[in-house]
Amino acid sequence: MPGLTIGDTIPDLEVGTTHGKIKLHQFCADSWTILFSHPGDFTPVCTTELGQMAQYSQEFYQRGVKLLGLSCDDLQSHHEWIKDIEAYTKGAKVNYPIMADPKREVIKQLNMVDPDEKDSTGNLPSRALHIVGPDKKIKLSFLYPATTGRNMDEVMRVVESLQKASKFKVATPANWKPGEPVVISPGVTNEQAKDMFPQGYQTVDLPSKKEYLRFTNV
Ligand code: BEZ
Repeated sequence: MPGLTIGDTIPDLEVGTTHGKIKLHQFCADSWTILFSHPGDFTPVCTTELGQMAQYSQEFYQRGVKLLGLSCDDLQSHHEWIKDIEAYTKGAKVNYPIMADPKREVIKQLNMVDPDEKDSTGNLPSRALHIVGPDKKIKLSFLYPATTGRNMDEVMRVVESLQKASKFKVATPANWKPGEPVVISPGVTNEQAKDMFPQGYQTVDLPSKKEYLRFTNV
């Protein structure tokens, strides 16, 4: 479905949230922000996902990442639902704002519409998740159907990958986990790599003899 995607600037919408009205650009300011949507309040998978997001919230904040949820129901419903979320996920505090979107206008603008899930008002949100960079552009998006809950370890892993790639000229290989070696970006010559990575790097000897697979630690 066409719509907001990687590289696009998020629209500066004014939205109602459980923490009051916000304008998206002012909220994101120059931080990283995770915008994540859910099909609806008082639904099983969403209740577990918002609880997990609350459990991980301190770790996101420590990495300079703000959280902003969305579910299509109204704010009164969100406030009631938060009691269930916190009761189910013991020790979790839903300390991040949750947007309301009863008219389903915000989800259209943020490309969070599930084409298959509908109620009497219209289409429900999908399980979309956009990671927005300090420049307010989308750096990464997940799009999951209502039946598949997201893995917050994976969200944390990709945040760490994005932040490393924004700081150093590196990328993270398949199945990379935080703390493991990263690869040096292809655009960096060996001469440049010596200056950029004084800690050193290891080049993998490949049949092509092209020295493009270079591991380092940052
Ligand atoms: C859920 O959160 O469990 C859910 C919501 C909408 C459709 C299917 C599942």
